[in-house]
Amino acid sequence: MDVVVTANKNSVISEIDQRIFGSFIEHMGRAIYSGIYEPEHPSANIAGFRSDVIDLVKELAVPVVRYPGGNFVSAYQWEDGIGPQAQRPVRLDLAWHSSESNQVGIHEFADWAQTVGCGMMLAVNLGSRGLTDARNFLEYVNHPKGSYWSDLRRENGQEQPWGVKTWCLGNEMDGPWQIGQKTADEYGRIAAETAKAMRAFDKSLELVVCGSSSPDMPTFPSWEKTVLEHTYDVVDYISLHMYFKNHEGHTGNYLAQSLKMERYIDTVASTINYVKAQKHADKQIYISFDEWNVWYHSTEQDKQILNGEQGWPHAPAILEDIYNVEDALLVACLINSFIRKSDIVKIACLAQLVNVIAPIMTEKNGAAWRQTIFYPFMLASRYGRGKALKLDINSPCYAAECAGEVPYVDISAVYNEQDKTINLFIVNRHGSEAISLRSTFNQFQNLQVCQHQTLNSADLQSSNTSQFPERITLVQGEALFITDQELTVCLAPLSYHFIQLKE
Ligand code: AHR
Repeated sequence: MDVVVTANKNSVISEIDQRIFGSFIEHMGRAIYSGIYEPEHPSANIAGFRSDVIDLVKELAVPVVRYPGGNFVSAYQWEDGIGPQAQRPVRLDLAWHSSESNQVGIHEFADWAQTVGCGMMLAVNLGSRGLTDARNFLEYVNHPKGSYWSDLRRENGQEQPWGVKTWCLGNEMDGPWQIGQKTADEYGRIAAETAKAMRAFDKSLELVVCGSSSPDMPTFPSWEKTVLEHTYDVVDYISLHMYFKNHEGHTGNYLAQSLKMERYIDTVASTINYVKAQKHADKQIYISFDEWNVWYHSTEQDKQILNGEQGWPHAPAILEDIYNVEDALLVACLINSFIRKSDIVKIACLAQLVNVIAPIMTEKNGAAWRQTIFYPFMLASRYGRGKALKLDINSPCYAAECAGEVPYVDISAVYNEQDKTINLFIVNRHGSEAISLRSTFNQFQNLQVCQHQTLNSADLQSSNTSQFPERITLVQGEALFITDQELTVCLAPLSYHFIQLKE
């Protein structure tokens, strides 16, 4: 089978906001405790953070991490996590039926973020709390000094404010599972008033209002319309969340779900534009896709804990999906979608980062390793910065119920003006046929191939474990050559490729 792609240097979708390679850490499961934080671990630094995990997070080059939730934030009291650690209260976390020791709070998380070199995107509790706590937390985090909350931060050892720019106004407030769930009107009002108060403190903040928690919610997309009608003037982004599963055990349909996600993005973009027109506004709201990933492998095994049948364990091993090669292919397609939609999607957070539906796994007092999904995320995060190129693709398609006609080849291309590279991220969705992909690059000079990497396994079900942490890894792809601005590569069935060209 042959597929033809054409790229033109001047045909650009958008400059990519690097925050589409963001991630998310919630106080739940073993994300924090025995994930990023484990003072007794042999690799722990002086602050109690695992250096082995820090190294892996640095490898991913994550530009921003959303914190502290997720569902957790909707009953969280951020003050529980400040002051001397020995005096912090243990609380019951209603979202995940766990005990929260509060040994990590905003100070510890900020130190960790600085160590790994990422920015923070903080969420305020609009479930059980509201405007006052949001403004207090903001003042604690961002005000230099001379007020109650800023001076308390200084007493607690942090002289300089952290200057966090991006704030989420609650989490998934449409969900029946959410503590303090609201109707669209109730939430729209509280979000608008909270945003006004936060902006009264600092006009330059970027605020994210909650969209639906998935496109399958019965209130989608009227939720978006109502919430934006209340908040359009005072927020900057609307959030989208989506999790993926191979519920039919059908690889073709599974890999088609990235296109279902693109339709979701298009619908929200249209809703934004509808409200924008209705309000005769000049301002553009963008999308923060602040939770996305594969999530289904662990669902059965988590039921007992989440139903409360094991009491209130501290840092239980929940949502520990073990990812296979098929999942890595879908993750690669999803990232391609974010690159192709980079004109409207400005933030996207892989949910989550460590242990909880995560690219990085750890054992308590043991090893840390990369899951299969680590690789396409890492390559896109490191090399997907620059301009997303608009590609002309001529690929045969197959039919999938969730997404209609699905091209066998999924591809995105990013041109980096600084180092003059073109970075191609490619998936062959075909289950049995190799594809010959012929790409032409117009208006580029003297292109050379500098990298071709692929995933090493043909077994879609294989995964990495603590015992076999490198069973799935990146390997060098076949040697490639460019003739007359044209590159031909053979894509094995169900394979992933990263190709880097340089002018
Ligand atoms: O990422 C796990 C959970 O998924 C988050 O807490 C919640 O926002 C979503 O439902």
